[in-house]
Amino acid sequence: MKVLEINGGKTLEGTIRISGSKNSSVALIPAAILASSEVTICNVPEITDTDALAEILDYLGAKVKRASESIVINPTTIINKEIPEEMSNKLRASYYFMAVLLAKFKHVEMYFPGGCSIGARPIDQTLKGFQALGATIKEVENRYIIDAKKLTGAHVYLDMPSVGATINTMLVAVKASGETIIENAAKEPEIVNVATFLNNMGAKITGAGTSEIKIIGVDQLEGCYTEVIPDRIETGTYLIAGALAGKNLKIDNIIPEHIEMLILKMKEMEVPIEVGSDYVIISKSEKLHPVKIKTQGYPGFATDLQQPVTVLLTQCEGESQLEETVYENRFKNVPYLNEMGSDIKIIGKKIKIYGPTKLVGKSVEATDLRGGASLILAGLIAQGTTTISNIGPVLRGYEHIVEKLTDIGANIEIKEV
Ligand code: EPU
Repeated sequence: MKVLEINGGKTLEGTIRISGSKNSSVALIPAAILASSEVTICNVPEITDTDALAEILDYLGAKVKRASESIVINPTTIINKEIPEEMSNKLRASYYFMAVLLAKFKHVEMYFPGGCSIGARPIDQTLKGFQALGATIKEVENRYIIDAKKLTGAHVYLDMPSVGATINTMLVAVKASGETIIENAAKEPEIVNVATFLNNMGAKITGAGTSEIKIIGVDQLEGCYTEVIPDRIETGTYLIAGALAGKNLKIDNIIPEHIEMLILKMKEMEVPIEVGSDYVIISKSEKLHPVKIKTQGYPGFATDLQQPVTVLLTQCEGESQLEETVYENRFKNVPYLNEMGSDIKIIGKKIKIYGPTKLVGKSVEATDLRGGASLILAGLIAQGTTTISNIGPVLRGYEHIVEKLTDIGANIEIKEV
């Protein structure tokens, strides 16, 4: 079994370069299937989630070439066949294949997608989008058979601004005839990245990044080149590391606007932070003010940073509060943080954090990707050794995390035990 071992208390100095966004890449890779010739996607992170998608593409018969930071996909040889459950349940994003195979072949058979266990995570809004565009869906247990004689543009209202449902509806609508309008669309930067990619292929999408997206379907999409945006959640995670243990730590290659909600909260806490055009320089402060945070869709406070920021709140003086409004089960890291010495109470959808508390190294478990990241952050400031088991979820989402943290002075390694 692999574990992550961290000896805490080291100062983090130097520069950390942010990788391409996981949540963009995992949508861009399946979207490549829609092109009728070769596609190049640059700045793709080397994480197990992108490996799993490349494996699915390969299984479907596409030609995939992976260089260090880019992926070249030739989808012309693709065959429409059912993706085995053990491949699709490795990650949430496998359901983008549902959309692109439906758009391309008007028929798809697939299992319910995987992903971190942080809530029920139904896909009803995605299915609603497909149905609105003309698909019929047969659902047998966790398997879906989706057919469409014809895909026709429609007016779709999402009951909540779901990132997945917005992208899935967009992926089908680009090939449907006529106009589709997605109302109450999610506004995350990853959606803009996907829309830009599709537009580079020849799609006609306007309004991505707002709550109303308009798509005019086209017959043919051509191969093209695109670049993945910097990962705003990785950026936020390292910003938090800097606020916990940094000394003029530079977080480079970022889009500060994408992480503004965290920067503003950090300013409220009085974290010393300098924001540049594509970087941030951050240091630890001896005294931090408590704050209240509520997770929301973009541009609100990202749920994916809720667990990491909890660690910073353990170092604020007094009571901080954090309300999780997106997922029902995203506090699984809290008992482990409390074992390490924090004082956090879970009250329904809220947690109250009393600080500052000294943290001590313990043996803990990464129950999910961002929960695992929060335990790494705690380990960086804990006294003694923190050993984190079940590190698979962390490696799904953070490129070269051990190397990046080692380069800035952390004492962290993966060990076989
Ligand atoms: N929801 C429904 N029905 C649907 C779709 C969503 O009820 O059909 C609910 C979900 O259960 C959840 C909320 O709506 O409570 C938001 O879900 P959304 O669809 O926006 O999330 P997602 O597309 O499944 C992506 C990211 C998540 C991130 C969320 C929110 C990917 C692969 N995943 O998930 O990332 O938390 O958007 O920003 O893009 C992570 O990176 O750790 C992660 C979980």
